[in-house]
Amino acid sequence: MSKKALITGVTGQDGSYLADFLIEKGYEVHGLRRRSSSYNLTNIEHLNLNPHLKNSKFFLHYGDLTDSSNLNRVIEKIEPDEIYNLAAQSHVRVSFDIPEYTAEVDAVGTLRLLDAIKETGIKTKFYQASSSELYGNSSNKALNEKSPFSPCSPYAVAKLFAYWITVNYRDSYNMFASNGILFNHESPRRSSSFVSRKITLAVANIIKGKQDKLYLGNLDACRDWGFAKDYVEAMWLMLQQENPDDYVIATGNIHSVREFAVKAFHAAGIDIIWKGEGKDEKGLDSKTNNILIEIDPYYFRPTEVDSLLGDATKAKAEFNWQPRISFDELVDMMVKSDIERVSG
Ligand code: NAP
Ligand code: GDD
Repeated sequence: MSKKALITGVTGQDGSYLADFLIEKGYEVHGLRRRSSSYNLTNIEHLNLNPHLKNSKFFLHYGDLTDSSNLNRVIEKIEPDEIYNLAAQSHVRVSFDIPEYTAEVDAVGTLRLLDAIKETGIKTKFYQASSSELYGNSSNKALNEKSPFSPCSPYAVAKLFAYWITVNYRDSYNMFASNGILFNHESPRRSSSFVSRKITLAVANIIKGKQDKLYLGNLDACRDWGFAKDYVEAMWLMLQQENPDDYVIATGNIHSVREFAVKAFHAAGIDIIWKGEGKDEKGLDSKTNNILIEIDPYYFRPTEVDSLLGDATKAKAEFNWQPRISFDELVDMMVKSDIERVSG
């Protein structure tokens, strides 16, 4: 009989890649979907969404991390061998606007799931989507599992609770529960509210004459950006280990938002030159002198994480995980995909 997996957040970037990966491995995959009045299945519409089709390997269930009785019912009904908790209000800047809701979903939602597992008594393995945001501005060095946490947004504080409650349920109730501390990972399926996809979509729109300019916040923020498809494999590998544990997943390379933008425009044949300083800095097309990038302080955050660089030595040593796609390949892939999308 095939193994069963439950993915919360299956409609998001990571959930959709993880569903593809597990189906490919022969799993029966169950995904939790939120009720929404607008269409939220774009990332998974290539999977068979017809629940009546014979031999289907993919099933959707309505559910929400704010609803304990629903989570209990779903887990009891499916009896999954593995649960991947990827659902979250995942936007750091938005968490300053809706801090209470972010805590309700990202922190208490994780507790609800863990407690549903405990109360139903189902034997399952649990993966928690922890984040490099836990570290905040704690260090300029490459961060590993032993680095101190210093969260600096409502999102990061909520994820810190989720991290520790996962460790606590593992220790208290002997549960197989692991934290993946993932650094930023992107893809053509990334929501355009995150800076990578916002940039690549804008590049595509600009070269197709559908947008004049790209407005950005902090150009000098640095992140360790990897490819989401590489990262979901690491989630699965964590649950195949003999014992539960916590692992950093990262590329070990860092780039600024400015570099991302320059590379993305370059991939579409435009070279950017910078003029001005601070909030007045602008990115111009070197050939036409048209202003293509401007700063909009709306995108600044009350507290910013200036730089995040990860060290995934432990994941490499224990289950031989390493990223396959480089930063340049990632930017190229996302720009190409958005140009196709905009042209189509
Ligand atoms: P994403 O694209 O924003 O997906 C979030 C998912 O959570 C969506 O399916 C969303 O459903 C669902 N969701 C939101 N609120 C919910 C609720 N109350 N109940 C049930 N489902 C809810 O995020 P992602 O990039 O795939 O990230 C996956 C997880 O990893 C998140 O927990 C994120 O915080 C964490 N993480 C991400 C990164 C990264 O760089 N991508 C790095 C570290 C950690 P809708 O489609 O209906 O909105
Ligand atoms: N979103 C956004 N939009 N960010 C911008 C912009 C803009 O216009 N301009 C500059 N930035 C900067 C942000 O201030 C931040 O420093 C950096 O770009 C990355 O922002 P995001 O792409 O929104 O990602 P994030 O790092 O805040 O959070 C993502 O990664 C975390 C892991 O470190 C999310 O996926 C989180 O869910 C995840 O935990």
